[in-house]
Amino acid sequence: MQFPRTQRLFSRLLHGADYNYEQWLDTPDVLAEDFRLMQAAHCNVMSVGIFSWAMLEPEEGKYAFGWLDQLMDRLAEHGLSAILSTPSAAPPVWLSQAYPETRRVNTNGQRDPHRRRQNFCFSSPIYRQKITAINRLLAERYKTHPALLLWHLSNEYGSYPCHCEYCYTNFRAWLQRRYGDLDALNRAWWTNFWSHRYSSWAQIEPVDESNHGLMIDWQRFISDNVLDFMLAEAAPLREVTPDVPITTNFMQPDVGLNYWRFAEHLDVASWDSYPRWHQGDDLTIAMQTAFYHDLHRSYKQGRPFLLMESSPTVTNWQGISRLKKPGMLKLASLQAIAHGSNSVQYFQWRQSRGGEEKFHGAVVSHLGGKQTRVFRDVTEVGSLLQRLTDVTQTTIAAPVAVIYDFENEWALQHAQLPGSLYKNYRETCQRHYRSFWQRGVPADVISAVSDLSKYRVVVAPMLYMLAQGTAERIEAFVKAGGTFVATYLTGMVNESDLTFLGGYPAPLRRTLGIYAEEMDSLTDQQTGRIAACDGNMLELRGEYQFQHYAELIHTETAHVLAAYDSDFYAGNPAATVNQYGDGQAYFIAARTDDQFLTDFYDGVMRCAGVGNELVGALPMGVSASVRSNGQQRYVFLMNFSDREQQIMVQTGMRGAMDGKPADAFVTLPPYGCAVLVKESENA
Ligand code: GAL
Repeated sequence: MQFPRTQRLFSRLLHGADYNYEQWLDTPDVLAEDFRLMQAAHCNVMSVGIFSWAMLEPEEGKYAFGWLDQLMDRLAEHGLSAILSTPSAAPPVWLSQAYPETRRVNTNGQRDPHRRRQNFCFSSPIYRQKITAINRLLAERYKTHPALLLWHLSNEYGSYPCHCEYCYTNFRAWLQRRYGDLDALNRAWWTNFWSHRYSSWAQIEPVDESNHGLMIDWQRFISDNVLDFMLAEAAPLREVTPDVPITTNFMQPDVGLNYWRFAEHLDVASWDSYPRWHQGDDLTIAMQTAFYHDLHRSYKQGRPFLLMESSPTVTNWQGISRLKKPGMLKLASLQAIAHGSNSVQYFQWRQSRGGEEKFHGAVVSHLGGKQTRVFRDVTEVGSLLQRLTDVTQTTIAAPVAVIYDFENEWALQHAQLPGSLYKNYRETCQRHYRSFWQRGVPADVISAVSDLSKYRVVVAPMLYMLAQGTAERIEAFVKAGGTFVATYLTGMVNESDLTFLGGYPAPLRRTLGIYAEEMDSLTDQQTGRIAACDGNMLELRGEYQFQHYAELIHTETAHVLAAYDSDFYAGNPAATVNQYGDGQAYFIAARTDDQFLTDFYDGVMRCAGVGNELVGALPMGVSASVRSNGQQRYVFLMNFSDREQQIMVQTGMRGAMDGKPADAFVTLPPYGCAVLVKESENA
């Protein structure tokens, strides 16, 4: 691989867990058992030190690394590597009390007390000074330690707003850099509305939710400020250990951070996945989890990511958490690998005795030992991963991309549109993504500023905000032969949340060959009808339903594929295609039912020549994914239903585990999975 820093990291699939050794220092027998059990469960890595600042620096400037030295040595002795965390996510009490300015301030100007974790201000100079000091000591101390495999910055950075003077000063400086002068800012934020005009920078306080330009910039600033903190934390590690890769564990992307910009500074992306299996529709949960895995693969342009945390059994904070049914742990773990992860890691290795997470699932429970169903399941996953080592060097080439853009999501959250109740932006992106997932066609999940040129099909549901340059890049993509799909609520505002004039989706009007005049919004109980036009090129047939949104559009150069068939706008175009340059640009004007999306995207894939030739039509409940390295293609078959399922596969495949030739039909038990290998014809 051309990425030397990740070479060692990707020499095998990682299997391990968050390990809180410091919680058990006075029970050496427990610690000794841990290392025996880690080996029994085929673990090769542990994430350590995550919340241990108070144990590493019990008093200001007095450090106690002895226990961590011992842990690192014991890991190495047992053939385990360490993902070593910087401790910034949980400051010690002494720090919060000695330096009150490290604690966040709320919108009423009150300073938070010290409690919980992730409870500090990202702007605080003294906090940055303290964390960089301890990070430097960690780097110096362990730079040549054989166990050190990867740095884990902090834990789940969040976008907690803080209204202290440091944050306000930084925010105003950020605005000055962005706008230059107040006139430009006043214009961009349309501040003559409700007399919001500013006459000095000091008047700007990010507390007014009615000022949407202000709100989106505040969110951008928060994200940039956390990124700046991350870079400050990482600086001593980069300096002292330039060859050790760095990650930070991301969360499901609804946290208000622009993770794309963070990912640029990481060597590998990683994330924490906590799906709510068995509480309703497992198929939708599987699709959403696949979407998040694909997003994490896309952050580093298709390079493998790490599943940093997942629960081996229950998750205590979810209110309800069902036990994983037989097969589910292996299936969920393999799903991560299938979508590009090079690891399966758990939160947590051993259940703690006290604290808020004492009833969170773990590999080793309060019962102790290895005679548990969960431990056996974890051991099976470990043994499976050992036999899939070659997968680490494979990638996934996705011909399709779905644009799910964070800044667009933030802008939509504030937008007071008719129909605001049902915006459901992320869910809409996932409903479009599902059409590819259910056919086993790999899709990247990208942002509006990602490179489009490597895709055949780009889908951008509800791309309400078009920042400068986005429409131009989409236009160039279509002109050059790409297939683009847009929907209702597209191209309404610019990056400052100022509306476009002259007909939405204004900057994409030429590419899509349509413009919108009005938007109807329906209650949750109301639906409308759409009818396919005879002889349409996507082979849409019959009638479909829509709900929530119906945009009334006019075609300019586009052709109509389907038209409204209800209300006073019956006969108006509901889905169109525009031939533009060498490509096609489709527009879906209403929020249609899933059947429409399935038929529509089947047609789009057919026209764009996109498919998965390794597997036959996948039965409902089954998904398939392919990772390849030019020599071999690994085909992952996953059954997320509670029924046995049969999948037709191409001839010439063998089982990745047993090497036996695969039958034409592979049978998967309920929640079962299989991995097949296909050698490349020219290998
Ligand atoms: C994660 C967090 C872990 C642990 C886990 C419990 O979000 O990073 O420290 O709290 O949740 O599910």
